[in-house]
Amino acid sequence: MKTLDSYDFKGKKVLLRTDYNVPIKNGEVLDSFRIKESMKTIKELFRKGAKQIIIITHLGRPNGRDPQLKLDPLVKPLIKLSGRSIEKHDDCLEVEHLIGSSSIVLLENLRFYDEEEKDDEIFASKLAKLADVFVNDAFGVSHRKHASVHAITKFLPSVAGRLVEKELNIFNEVLTLPKKPFVAIIGGSKLETKLSVIQNLINKVDNLLLGGAMIFTFFAAKNFSVGKSLVDKKSFAMATMLMNNEKLVLPKDVVIADSMESPSQIVNVLPSQIPSYMYGLDIGQKSVDEFKDILLSANTIIWNGPLGYYENPLFAKATVGLLKFLGDSNKKVIIGGGDTAALVTQLGLKDKFYHVSTGGGASLKLLEGKGLVALEALK
Ligand code: 3PG
Repeated sequence: MKTLDSYDFKGKKVLLRTDYNVPIKNGEVLDSFRIKESMKTIKELFRKGAKQIIIITHLGRPNGRDPQLKLDPLVKPLIKLSGRSIEKHDDCLEVEHLIGSSSIVLLENLRFYDEEEKDDEIFASKLAKLADVFVNDAFGVSHRKHASVHAITKFLPSVAGRLVEKELNIFNEVLTLPKKPFVAIIGGSKLETKLSVIQNLINKVDNLLLGGAMIFTFFAAKNFSVGKSLVDKKSFAMATMLMNNEKLVLPKDVVIADSMESPSQIVNVLPSQIPSYMYGLDIGQKSVDEFKDILLSANTIIWNGPLGYYENPLFAKATVGLLKFLGDSNKKVIIGGGDTAALVTQLGLKDKFYHVSTGGGASLKLLEGKGLVALEALK
């Protein structure tokens, strides 16, 4: 793959695609992890003599031009992290005559244009006219065939930024040459969305520990009554097949409650003892202890997806407890992006892990053993 080493940036204008799809509330960025992680590329581009960096990104999933999803809140953290002033424009097309000589320019949300998600070549060619070279550092959206990461590569010399390179190298290293024992923790609510990940990883790991609402599909496939827990009947056959694999570890006990949001009854039971009016919402303490025992002997650990309904702190105990345990363990732990990474930030544990990915859907694709469509074009 072409990288920052493959091009001479001296005196050039760079179109830099980042993934600044960050949480924003009342005009303030709540978590600037993704912005921070793009600084390595930005600083290196300037060291290499780039004249101007024009940053393009999406934010959220707008339907047309949505004032709530304008990129103005990004300016403050960008100034702070880059140490430079930022020239922000309210559009990303027809801005040629507006762009001044600032070293960093930020254009408006790419997804205000339908063409972006359609991988539209005319849209991409217009963006390309703004610069001499394209750098893709948007790991989190590189599994998407969108104009600003995919079609754009047809119109400019195109290379990967350091964040994309780092993410790929780390996933490649753990998925091909992990120091054994290698253990995966897979959580999340819908089994359907994690099946390919489980199928791919089960061949590589020594143990695969399962949590999240998807465990109730496994229990239901065993013919246990699981009350009001989430069940994905379509995945029964696959769940039954996977359960025959001795590497797969299902929780021995679960936390159930009579309501997800304001329960009056919360109990720890065996998975076979869930009354019809109760919801399964977390894995139990015995399971956490068993997971810890297995993890203690592991050398490489990869984690994707929460173990319980963590949005309610009453059911976040297993996830938070295990994250803290692993954070203090000095083990090589890779946290897949998405919900698990967001939780790690909230808990202030980011620096305690070997790697926390900036990509949710993108890291899932890699864990499924697949490539990222936008990066194929950089080869
Ligand atoms: C993410 O947050 O995972 C990326 O920015 C991709 O966003 P999307 O799922 O809306 O394409």
